[in-house]
Amino acid sequence: MSQAFSLKGKNVLVTGGTRGIGHAISLQFARAGATVIANYVRGQKTAEALLAQAQEEKLHITLCRADLTLARGLGSLEEAVAGLNGGLHGLVYCGATGVHKTFEGLTLRHFDWTFALNVRAFFELVRRILPRFAPGASIVAVTSQGALRVVPSYSVVGASKGALEALARHLAVELAPRGIRVNILAPGAVATESWASMPDAQDRLAELTRRTPVGRLVTPEEVAQAAQFLCSDAARTVIGHTLVVDGGAGLPV
Ligand SMILES: NC(=O)c1ccc[n+]([C@@H]2O[C@H](COP(=O)([O-])OP(=O)(O)OC[C@H]3O[C@@H](n4cnc5c(N)ncnc54)[C@H](OP(=O)(O)O)[C@@H]3O)[C@@H](O)[C@H]2O)c1
Repeated sequence: MSQAFSLKGKNVLVTGGTRGIGHAISLQFARAGATVIANYVRGQKTAEALLAQAQEEKLHITLCRADLTLARGLGSLEEAVAGLNGGLHGLVYCGATGVHKTFEGLTLRHFDWTFALNVRAFFELVRRILPRFAPGASIVAVTSQGALRVVPSYSVVGASKGALEALARHLAVELAPRGIRVNILAPGAVATESWASMPDAQDRLAELTRRTPVGRLVTPEEVAQAAQFLCSDAARTVIGHTLVVDGGAGLPV
């Protein structure tokens, strides 16, 4: 691997880092030489499995169980980051939640629940750990196609991802003079557990596969490789960019 893509010596925090796409990012980053703090909240078994795998491969991954919607959880992550030797070189904001219903079934509680993690916690986490970022650090906000496009039963999640993207673009400009790069990573459909709560998941995944020019869905590992690029020195002048990793599914044909 070219040195420019290496993450050797970098400390990276991955939220939602023990399951699905975040799990792939934690492993990919650690294999590329990073020291990773993988954040999670409920999935104790998957977190322990990641740790066991890291120990087997002699990778530098530690876990931080913290609910990012609570001040206490944000405090735990702040503490974990403060303990890093050499500061923080990367934040991949991958954790997300949401209620998948049509508009008439949604309430303000669903809205607040979704925005609390997908937008508010990102804002507050970055605000709290800002002094810890090392020069040349990279923040990657993981969003989705629903930020720009209409996806069935996705209005509140799509709106939160749109807000996250807008916030990330503003931060990209404001933080660039401090040597902190901010970018957006927007995967297409990836067959993770999160689809279990989607209505008609199997039919929709089949339809999305049919519409994807490469003829299959993107894998978590492929999204992780794109995240690695954004956190590597190879992307040192990539700022405020939205990197779409969707096998061409979003192209207007
Ligand atoms: N899958 C797709 O098709 C797809 C497509 C485009 C974009 N994305 C985006 O990619 C990211 C990962 O997606 P995924 O499908 O891999 O998701 P996932 O399997 O549902 O994982 C969600 C993660 O968020 C964490 N999380 C939930 N609530 C939390 C809280 N209050 N505090 C801290 N962490 C919390 C979960 O932790 P626990 O495991 O501990 O519960 C989990 O690790 C998300 O941002 C998603 O929007 C996914």
